[in-house]
Amino acid sequence: MKIAVIGLGFVGLTLSSVLASRGIITIGIDLDTKKCSKIAEGIPTFFEPNLKKILEKALKKKLIITNKMSSISNCDFIFVTVGTPQKKNGEIDLSMIKVVTKDIGKLVSKNKKKPTILIKSTVIPGTMKNVILPILERNSKKKAGKDFGLISNPEFLQEGRAIQDTIKPHVVVLGGYRTKFMKKTEKFFSEFHPSVPIIITNHQTAEMIKYANNSFLATKISFINQIARICEGIPDTNIDDVANTIGLDPRIGNLFLNAGAGYGGSCLPKDIKAIINLSSKMGVDPILLTAVEKMNKQQINNIIVLIKQNIGEIRGKKLTILGVAFKPNTDDIRDSVGIELVSRLLKLGAKITMHDPKALENARKIFRDNAKYVKSVPSALKDCQCAIIMTQWKDYERINNKTIKHMAKKIIIDSRRILYNKNLDAKYFAIGLGQKEWKFLWQAVLVLSEVIL
Ligand code: UGA
Repeated sequence: MKIAVIGLGFVGLTLSSVLASRGIITIGIDLDTKKCSKIAEGIPTFFEPNLKKILEKALKKKLIITNKMSSISNCDFIFVTVGTPQKKNGEIDLSMIKVVTKDIGKLVSKNKKKPTILIKSTVIPGTMKNVILPILERNSKKKAGKDFGLISNPEFLQEGRAIQDTIKPHVVVLGGYRTKFMKKTEKFFSEFHPSVPIIITNHQTAEMIKYANNSFLATKISFINQIARICEGIPDTNIDDVANTIGLDPRIGNLFLNAGAGYGGSCLPKDIKAIINLSSKMGVDPILLTAVEKMNKQQINNIIVLIKQNIGEIRGKKLTILGVAFKPNTDDIRDSVGIELVSRLLKLGAKITMHDPKALENARKIFRDNAKYVKSVPSALKDCQCAIIMTQWKDYERINNKTIKHMAKKIIIDSRRILYNKNLDAKYFAIGLGQKEWKFLWQAVLVLSEVIL
């Protein structure tokens, strides 16, 4: 058995490392030569827990890294894991996948072996049938289903837990025709992931499953953020108690109900936009998904309002952002709400200091000399007039009165309620927590006194 994986990003590098560490001859291919030489030395190009260890093991065993597409010859399976980034209008950009499938087609035309090509990249329903299959058949001058297999194999791994999700996914989806290639692929996956359900369907449905999955996750997040906003207006309510309790209802489930500053990352925002775009083009008004996206954008606006309410004019103020990775356990800042907040605050004239356990160097590539990048939390907080916790890093759980001692003004806005219950000597606001009753009374007294005077 020989497998090729084309595109060594989060999905491709994780998949090829896991396959090879299990003893399967695996060829990891990426056109970026610099990336290839780093990976070949055992250095992943991004941070992902346990990846380095498993990559090193894979390289010692059966992993070969190359930039040569010709290495796919004589492979049984060819996984395509290249990116499908976003265009400005919300559509996905298929240029990379088109180039790769054209090359695969040309190489398959010379191949003696009949490989199965599995597309893991996220593509809009209809892309396999209308774009990828014709490119492969045209360039190979061979027939899908007879001379080679073509299967949609959407990926569901989460960054930060990519290795465990690759070793044991919750499902394997195989989209395509029920040919001998499908049978062989089903056998491979049932041996590779015993006891994981395998769903066999057609291409379009497999493509749609991926978008439905991410749309539902985004909907859950915007739903809980909406409830969190309502909680903020009701004294003493706590969104975590609400989320944990409704999560016990098996019809709801407890995951993805963590209220915060909104969803980010390279997948949910892009996939929601793409499905909204597709739906609108078809004449189906994407009412719910548009609301999900709108709710997501509002979260960050609300944080800015909170900052203004507490410190007044933002221009010239020293603000510290704790966490710029789009979520904990990654250094990925693509479409991160923390990064978005920094951009917005810089435009408003704030002086920004950032802290993040893993993503500082990536943030520096964006903001360069326009912000400060500090490696310790107390130093990052020193002299600042307001701190905003954006990413739920475990490190922030350790913040105490000593850590915040040298803040110029002790105002903390906590998007994940990490410091709730810490009794900090600070003015504390958190997403999803209703203010204490006395604060409302005090505000009422102030309003009344203004009216009377
Ligand atoms: C997401 C999906 O969860 C994966 O199943 C999918 O394979 C992947 O996209 C993809 O399409 O490639 P990922 O982008 O790694 O995975 O990130 P998530 O864990 O889904 O988090 C996305 C965002 O939602 C983050 O900003 C996170 O902080 C936020 N989030 C998540 C919340 O605000 N609350 C939650 O309860 C969960």
